[in-house]
Amino acid sequence: MLLVEGLAAQYGASQALFDVSLAVGAGEVVTLLGRNGMGKTTTVRAIMGLLPSQGGRITGGALRFEGASLLGAPPFAIARRGLGLVPEGRQVFPTLSVEENLIATARPGRWTLASVHALFPRLAERRRSLGRTLSGGEQQMLAIGRALMTNPRLLILDEATEGLAPLIRAEIWEVLGRLKAEGQAILLIDKNLAAVMRLADRHVVIERGRTVWTGDSAALAAAPEVRERYLHV
Ligand SMILES: Nc1ncnc2c1ncn2[C@@H]1O[C@H](COP(=O)(O)OP(=O)(O)O)[C@@H](O)[C@H]1O
Ligand SMILES: [Mg+2]
Repeated sequence: MLLVEGLAAQYGASQALFDVSLAVGAGEVVTLLGRNGMGKTTTVRAIMGLLPSQGGRITGGALRFEGASLLGAPPFAIARRGLGLVPEGRQVFPTLSVEENLIATARPGRWTLASVHALFPRLAERRRSLGRTLSGGEQQMLAIGRALMTNPRLLILDEATEGLAPLIRAEIWEVLGRLKAEGQAILLIDKNLAAVMRLADRHVVIERGRTVWTGDSAALAAAPEVRERYLHV
């Protein structure tokens, strides 16, 4: 489905990605792991066409989604091809209501206001509230709901459980498990190793802009040196 091969990228003159490769197949949950500043968010921005808006650009490698290159495509066109992003820091629209946030980028499909409300009942209760008045957990639910409303073939989540209270975090892991059970393809960035090892089919570890290890949860469990060297756990 998604194929990233030898991806290189820089911000101005500063190179952030050197050689990132990863693949996500239909129905797969794949994680992108690595310590802070290693290039996870930059990889996601490259996939989504968001580097130019950050003063960055892709300088090498290939990005393909369902066989067609994503290189040079603007963010709206990439979203329309079926990639949905829950961005780092949530980035809900502060002056739009919850419902307006959900509808703003929606496309028809399995996920509608009603099905997102069923998934996150709190968003139904808060539907008239402005984005900026939500708690962190509510904003995160809204960011996930908004991405689902685009009915993505591949859902990408960048640190979606970061900084949340344990109960809300648990609710989000539970939702991700339900999405996986439905066959939703997911590329996941998250620091909670125990949770991602339960959920994901495969893991891709990056270090200073390079893919340095790939394997399934059993292989990662059996590789304490990988966890210590690249993940500090
Ligand atoms: N908008 C930006 N402009 C310049 N440099 C950036 C920008 N965003 C990230 N970087 C740099 O790129 C590198 C990778 O960052 P990032 O992709 O955010 O890492 P991660 O998501 O793994 O924490 C870091 O050295 C970071 O300082
Ligand atoms: Mg990041």
